[in-house]
Amino acid sequence: MQDPKAYQHVNNMQSRDLEVILKENSFEWKQKDARIMDVGCGDGSATMGIWKKHISESFMIIVGSDKSQACVNFAKKNYEGEKVKFITLDIEGQIPDDLKGCFDHVVSNYVFHWVQRQEKGFSNIYDMLAKEGKCLLIFLGNCNCYENYRTLSRTTKWNSYLKDVKTKLLSPYHDSQASDPQIEIRSLMRKIGFRDINIQVQNLSFDFERGIDEFRDLMKCLNPFDGLEEKWEDFMDEYVQLDPNAGTIIYQLLVVSGTK
Ligand SMILES: C[S@@+](CC[C@H](N)C(=O)[O-])C[C@H]1O[C@@H](n2cnc3c(N)ncnc32)[C@H](O)[C@@H]1O
Repeated sequence: MQDPKAYQHVNNMQSRDLEVILKENSFEWKQKDARIMDVGCGDGSATMGIWKKHISESFMIIVGSDKSQACVNFAKKNYEGEKVKFITLDIEGQIPDDLKGCFDHVVSNYVFHWVQRQEKGFSNIYDMLAKEGKCLLIFLGNCNCYENYRTLSRTTKWNSYLKDVKTKLLSPYHDSQASDPQIEIRSLMRKIGFRDINIQVQNLSFDFERGIDEFRDLMKCLNPFDGLEEKWEDFMDEYVQLDPNAGTIIYQLLVVSGTK
């Protein structure tokens, strides 16, 4: 994501879901001197405003990380402090040795559906955890907006922009309805070495307060397709023709936890 400043005004779905999940579930946080890594922190507002609020005040450090330099710069400028740091990190890439075994909790909200190399992503999380450390990952499975993008990718007009829709946008679990994402994720995590694995699948919807306009703004912020931004109004007009209810998004949210 390249525009964290714009994202902070349209992240209402991501913030709502994180708040509700943390409120309704009792996750076991380390009570004293906890070291926490937030993977894919984006603009940093959820790291600072939501995750930090839910962990014990006596934490040692929170590190927000993101593969986007623009996000890390923005988060540093707005939220960095004595016990809150931000670093650049691609969770699908090589993890520096000095991050391995260092965290009591690795958390992440609305990021892992962007991760195509799921095994690498999950094993990097495992490697960053200290012994007995826990991860909590929240991300999308199936979503109606993915299907709309896929439909548009098959049209002559949008095909050249959206030809990589499957690898650049769709969650790796968008199509796993029949095989069940829980089975896939559990078997991947087991193979890596996680234990106490818990996977919830929640069927949700979100009504954007500003309706379709807010949806358009959010998707513009998150747009991964080269050249599409210049055609954004035209593209979104056709998207809304295809889905006149685009002001409401319908999706499956996966809430995944495990222990090293
Ligand atoms: C929708 S934002 C979520 C931001 C924040 N976690 C929140 O709850 O609002 C997704 C973020 O994941 C980051 N991201 C995507 N793929 C990533 C990867 N492979 N490694 C690290 N960050 C990634 C993007 O740059 C973006 O900032």
